[in-house]
Amino acid sequence: MPAFQKAEFCKESTEAFKKQRESCLKAGVRIRPVQRQGLEDSNRVDSGKIGIALQNTPGTNMLGTSFKIVGPAKGQGSFGAVYVVEHVHSRRRYAAKVEPVLASLDREIQILKGISHEAILPVLCSHVEDGGLSWYIMPLLPTNLFAYLRSENQFAHGSQDALFNQLMDGLGFLHDRGVVHADIKPGNIVYNPGTEHFYIIDFGIAVVLPTPRGQTTESVYTLAFRPPELIEQGELAPVLTVKADSWAAALTMLEASTRTRFFDGRSKVAIAEKIRSFARELSFGLAGGPHLTKLQGAINNLSPSTQKHVAELIHYDPRRRASCGNVAEELRN
Ligand SMILES: Nc1ncnc2c1ncn2[C@@H]1O[C@H](COP(=O)(O)OP(=O)(O)O)[C@@H](O)[C@H]1O
Ligand SMILES: [Mg+2]
Repeated sequence: MPAFQKAEFCKESTEAFKKQRESCLKAGVRIRPVQRQGLEDSNRVDSGKIGIALQNTPGTNMLGTSFKIVGPAKGQGSFGAVYVVEHVHSRRRYAAKVEPVLASLDREIQILKGISHEAILPVLCSHVEDGGLSWYIMPLLPTNLFAYLRSENQFAHGSQDALFNQLMDGLGFLHDRGVVHADIKPGNIVYNPGTEHFYIIDFGIAVVLPTPRGQTTESVYTLAFRPPELIEQGELAPVLTVKADSWAAALTMLEASTRTRFFDGRSKVAIAEKIRSFARELSFGLAGGPHLTKLQGAINNLSPSTQKHVAELIHYDPRRRASCGNVAEELRN
């Protein structure tokens, strides 16, 4: 069974690509360049980007002897970094995230290991190898929120509120510890419809505050979830704060309500322009503006309590935008 792995940065850097290839060869895994495509939760309109497919060479098991790969995780499209695996002894199934270069996955594992919260999916065990493949094992969930919202399945009564409460709780917890997730969106939330549990995943670009000087905020969030303060390229370098996750969480709720992406477009420029004009309508309170009208429509399907908080989370000014921790606190009371 071939298994695939995407890696985004080989387009930019042949050095990085060479390094990846060496790591893969060491682990007995073949790679080949691929055109990124599939059921991805992103607005990566630059989808012509070349990634790599990582193929399990027959006779080798890239996850060592304890786990064997069963197939790609659901909702992953054709190429993904996450696999369904089976624990050889217990025959239980888990999810494994695999990467051929140490730096990014190691960081993700370090952040996740310092966190324990019921709305954040835990790392169960991990393997980090300098120059080889790194991976970690986590509980396997039936679906991600992006895929669920595009399926025939309907949320049970109260599921949207459950999603909102768990999202606010998990993000409030992270923010108290100085961690900005920086990639909140439906594809980074996995879901068990049977138990009504939602879990935040993918700390691949999470930021531990204070942000290092000169860190580029361009690299955070899928564009459609990026707040206006990280879109404007003014004189001052944009500043990433926990309030950016508030905005992305509000947009996630709008997507859960309408089952479509709130900011979509044919190009990055078009999406960024929609976010800018939405922020202008918000700041001037242009009640009849096209984006505010759309916002009203999307918010209407949410419960009254969630509606109120989502409106506070989507403030154009990060200083006046509600924090997830405060919303979680209010929801608890
Ligand atoms: N524990 C899990 N259970 C089920 N599916 C998962 C799990 N973790 C990740 N996935 C699937 O894999 C996809 C990619 O995982 P993610 O950690 O977001 O990696 P990437 O950095 O490639 O975005 C998710 O959108 C989800 O569909
Ligand atoms: Mg992801």
